[in-house]
Amino acid sequence: MRIILLGAPGAGKGTQAQFISEKTGATPISTGKIIRAAVKNGTPAGLAAKEYIDAGRLVPDEMVIEMLKERLCEDDCKDGYILDGFPRNISQALALEKMGIEVDIVIDILVFDSDVVERLCGRRVCNNCGATYHVETKPSLKGKLCELCDGTLITREDDKPEIVLERLRVYHAETEPLIRHYNAQIKLRTMRSFPTIEDTANGVLAILGESAV
Ligand code: AP5
Repeated sequence: MRIILLGAPGAGKGTQAQFISEKTGATPISTGKIIRAAVKNGTPAGLAAKEYIDAGRLVPDEMVIEMLKERLCEDDCKDGYILDGFPRNISQALALEKMGIEVDIVIDILVFDSDVVERLCGRRVCNNCGATYHVETKPSLKGKLCELCDGTLITREDDKPEIVLERLRVYHAETEPLIRHYNAQIKLRTMRSFPTIEDTANGVLAILGESAV
């Protein structure tokens, strides 16, 4: 079972990837998380990627493709995975195909740009385990600490309003063309992101049920 989640920044890809993983056992793989971990660890790739991620632009394809290839070789990918944030443009989609990877389904989560700004400005992430919260729609029961590991909740550098607008611009210019790409392969399913995480998860479940993946 191999699933791609498409959608604008803040569409809820990471949140729904976690949900699908809990339901199906497939491993959630976020290239954003992989890159942020490399930045935090100060690896050469991480240091090179930092200026792109901080500016809200895409990290160069060859760098991300290499990181993804390495990740997909790990044991927990054998029984399926959910790609969150990859591919981000047509050339990354073609790279996936060149690797011989066939995805079963591509779910595009639609969200209004105005909701994206509100969601990302209210998002908080754990600086230890990366768990995601929102000050209004998904507050941590432990206040400013992570419910899972007691890590400190922080605002991502790229969730500042001016960077969010740049990420949205990049999404419309570079990622949105993937919708047509996967529609042509008859793999695309489109759904709206509802105002609550639970309703959106029900929409995802309905798609997975219909697709019997
Ligand atoms: P990445 O980390 O992938 O960021 P993104 O795609 O912009 O997506 P986000 O993580 O911001 O949002 P999401 O859709 O996962 O939403 P979430 O579930 O968190 O990438 C960051 C950067 O890394 C990129 O800008 C780029 O520089 C680089 N990068 C990554 N991949 C790359 C690639 N392949 N190629 C090149 N560069 C790459 O939800 C958001 C918030 O809303 C949360 O607070 C959540 O609690 C809340 N929420 C979620 N769903 C709902 C709902 N239905 N109702 C109400 N609130 C909700």
